[in-house]
Amino acid sequence: MKWIIANWKMHYGPIKAGAWIRAFRRERLPKDVEIGVAVPHISLAAARASLGRASAPLLGAQNAFWGKEGAFTGETAPEMLQELGTSFCLVGHSERRIHLGETDQMVGKKVAALAAVGIKPVVCVGETKAQRDKKETLKVVKAQLTAALTTSDLLVAYEPVWAVGSGKACSPEIAKQMHESIREILKKKFGARAEQIPILYGGSVDENNIHEYFSTTDIDGVLVGGASLDPRTFGLLCRAAARG
Ligand code: 13P
Repeated sequence: MKWIIANWKMHYGPIKAGAWIRAFRRERLPKDVEIGVAVPHISLAAARASLGRASAPLLGAQNAFWGKEGAFTGETAPEMLQELGTSFCLVGHSERRIHLGETDQMVGKKVAALAAVGIKPVVCVGETKAQRDKKETLKVVKAQLTAALTTSDLLVAYEPVWAVGSGKACSPEIAKQMHESIREILKKKFGARAEQIPILYGGSVDENNIHEYFSTTDIDGVLVGGASLDPRTFGLLCRAAARG
C-alpha cells in the first residue's frame, strides 16, 4: 500500500480545518492508497468531527512530546492525541529541527512514546543544501535515522531540506538512491521487518510530478506540504498519483 500524507504545517485553525475536511470528503479518491492529513493539534478535534464516519483521510498530528503527563508547559502527550483517534504523527520535521532546535535524541524519545500508544511515527530525515554540497548527505541522514529507530513500527519520510517549499523537487532518481540507502540502514537494524517500513519522499511534490514518484520503485509514497492546502488540488493530486 502506498501513502500520500498532507502536512498543513501551521495552517488552518478549527474552523478552516473542518471546512477542508468536509470539502475533501467530496473528492473521489483512489482505493489502493492510504491517505492521511497531518493537522495542527488545535484543529484535530474539529477535523475528527467533520470526518464523521468516513474512514479517509486518516488523521495525524505534526508533533508530540515524549512524556505521559506532568510539568511540560505547552506540550502534548501521545495519549492526548490518541483520545482524538490520531493514527500517525510526524516527528523531526526539518522545520522543527531548524526553528525549534529539535535534536536526533529528542526525535528518538518521541518515536518511542508514540509507538507505545499505537500512533505511527512518521520520522522525517534529510540534508540541507550545504550538507549535500559537502557530500555529507548520507552521514547526516544516517545519524538522524539511527537515533530515531526506537521501534520498527514507523514510516520514514526522506525530505531534503533544499527541496522543501522551494518548488525544486528532488528528482525521483536521487530520491530513489537515498531510499535504497535508508532501506539498508533499516535492514541492518531490523532485518526482514525492514521491508515493511514505508519510505516516503517529501519536498515540492504536486499534482504534476507525483506520478513520477509513484512509478519509481523504492518510493512508497509522498509527504505533501503546499499542494495539500487546497482540498480540491489535493484530491486532484491523489488521483494523479494513481496514474503512475
Ligand atoms: P512542500 O510540499 O511545501 O515542499 O513541503 C514538504 C514538506 O515539508 C512536507 O512535510
